[in-house]
Amino acid sequence: MTDRPVEVLFSSAEIAARVSVLAREIAERLGHDIMIVAVLKGSFVFTADLMRELYHAGVRPQIDFMTLASYGVGTESSGHVQVTRDISDTVEGRRMLLVDDILESGRTLAHAKALLEERGASEVKVCVLLDKQGKRETDIEGDFVGFICPDRFVVGYGLDFAHYYRELPFIGYLAEE
Ligand code: IMP
Ligand code: MG
Repeated sequence: MTDRPVEVLFSSAEIAARVSVLAREIAERLGHDIMIVAVLKGSFVFTADLMRELYHAGVRPQIDFMTLASYGVGTESSGHVQVTRDISDTVEGRRMLLVDDILESGRTLAHAKALLEERGASEVKVCVLLDKQGKRETDIEGDFVGFICPDRFVVGYGLDFAHYYRELPFIGYLAEE
């Protein structure tokens, strides 16, 4: 268990308002027949809220989940991303929305996006809750971005530190010990 206090960065109300605007932008640009692929585990809270806002925006999405693991960062300059749980739905000819919690180096999402394109998706757009802009090591960008995130470790709203804090209804910084 861990009990370190968390300093609020984005409150529940701010997140809810932003997610609602994002859903309307997505509906406008992608239309009403899309397939969501949520990258686990970090994006599950965001995706659940986003889907319900998409409903209000008139979108009728299908959804599937993918788990990706990143290895070699720090030891290998290229980094290596592995799919540890794949989607089971067919993506051929589908208009896709790839959803993740944070866009940082971009390796995870670049890998997932390329995979969906290889499998014949007609279009793959990327939606992230948070963008750590200074940290990119690939040329991928978010098509839909919730918030620009300072270059500090954040937790809550699905995001973890050592598998804790995902349940927080807001996003915040872990206070120094
Ligand atoms: P990248 O874009 O491939 O470097 O991967 C970003 C991933 O690193 C995110 O999906 C998160 O799982 C994780 N991550 C990056 N920064 C944070 C943070 O501040 N808190 C929690 N997880 C983070
Ligand atoms: Mg992640």
